[in-house]
Amino acid sequence: MRTQVVIIGGGPSGLLLSQLLLRRGIDNVVLERKTRDYVLSRIRAGVLERGLLELMREAWVAGRMEREGFAHDGALIAHEGGTFHIDFKALTGHSVMVYGQTEVTRDLYDAREAAGAETLFEVEQVEIHDADGDAPYVSFRQHGETRRIDCDFVAGCDGFHGVSRQTIPLSVRREYEKTYPFGWLGILSETPPVDDELIYANSARGFALCSMRNANLSRYYIQCALSDKPEDWTDAAFWQELKRRLPGEVAERLVTGPSIEKSIAPLRSFVCEPMRWGRLFLCGDAAHIVPPTGAKGLNTAASDVHYLYNGLRQFYEEGDSEGIDRYSERALARVWKAERFSWWFSSLLHRYPDQSAFDLRMQTAELEFLRTNRAAQQAMAENYVGLPY
Ligand code: FAD
Ligand code: DHB
Repeated sequence: MRTQVVIIGGGPSGLLLSQLLLRRGIDNVVLERKTRDYVLSRIRAGVLERGLLELMREAWVAGRMEREGFAHDGALIAHEGGTFHIDFKALTGHSVMVYGQTEVTRDLYDAREAAGAETLFEVEQVEIHDADGDAPYVSFRQHGETRRIDCDFVAGCDGFHGVSRQTIPLSVRREYEKTYPFGWLGILSETPPVDDELIYANSARGFALCSMRNANLSRYYIQCALSDKPEDWTDAAFWQELKRRLPGEVAERLVTGPSIEKSIAPLRSFVCEPMRWGRLFLCGDAAHIVPPTGAKGLNTAASDVHYLYNGLRQFYEEGDSEGIDRYSERALARVWKAERFSWWFSSLLHRYPDQSAFDLRMQTAELEFLRTNRAAQQAMAENYVGLPY
């Protein structure tokens, strides 16, 4: 089998890249380790930046998102019993869109099926060969058979635990990592959201986030211990803890109900440099991870897709390799800024086990500065709605 671009990973990065390339007549195949249903069952991000919306429009998959997504012009920050508002629209001229990653992924799979695009599911033992030469190929097993696809380029969109990053030799690859001493426990419930806007809460008992998917589907998170398991938390215990971390008037309005999903995610900052090795390009979580506080994971994956798609387009349509040659440098310049914002916003809102009384005062002073200073709010808002590509 031969194609122009083999895309490893059928998550949002791989699917979006594939769809954009297909629209330009660039042939590609997506290899996914799991089934479509499994990929669609993973509840993850919920806030989309305008850059991702633009890419979805360009890939012709934005219709349902435009109809069913919710534009958010601001968000609330809760601290010391009260809340304050960051008005993204007034500060930056832009909003964000609340539309779940699951829905983005579903729209992309539906579009691929309609276009007859090829996805190979349940592939195992994926290996990338000769990525540093002129004729790379990818081998794998599927349903008991060994297969091989020859290609021009390989896009490693296989997430943090994928094989693509590991293919880059250690002599070339440099990794930067910070782990955080807590996780996020998240639940999804068929209840109306507690507010029209997202609420990010700093409280003495730890961080909490009130988010949503639609008028009757809410997503809530609380900071938890890394050793906690979802089954340790009954729904009642979750709701009680969430209420204790929210200002009284918000907690009073909170409508509770049974959870329909409950999971724990660890928090991590991670960057791999470079994001290109020969004919292999890393994209999304395969190359970098952010703690989820700033809602940057999916959005940063999307900016990688933008740079890679345009580089490949330039190569195939104009015979110019400038875009692919500068891919790693361009993508990383934006990645590091998203890393900084996610790290800063996480430090502002969580309780750390080793925080001293001085550290706590610094957190409060920083929150007060953000509450009262327009320049600070503008810097926050510009990062939240997404830095330009
Ligand atoms: P992924 O979504 O990880 O997709 C990679 C795909 O590759 C997967 O489908 C995987 O099955 C497949 N794969 C892996 N290895 C192989 C292989 N060897 N061969 C073939 N296929 C392979 N971001 C936010 O902004 N907000 C959030 O609330 C949020 N919550 C998150 C919760 C969790 C538990 C996780 C893990 C991430 C969360 N993120 C969140 C981050 C966000 O979901 C990711 O940034 C986004 O999914 C990145 O997309 P991706 O396509 O690069 O990677
Ligand atoms: C959601 C997740 C986030 O990490 C975030 O910052 C905002 C919203 C969510 O899942 O809705």
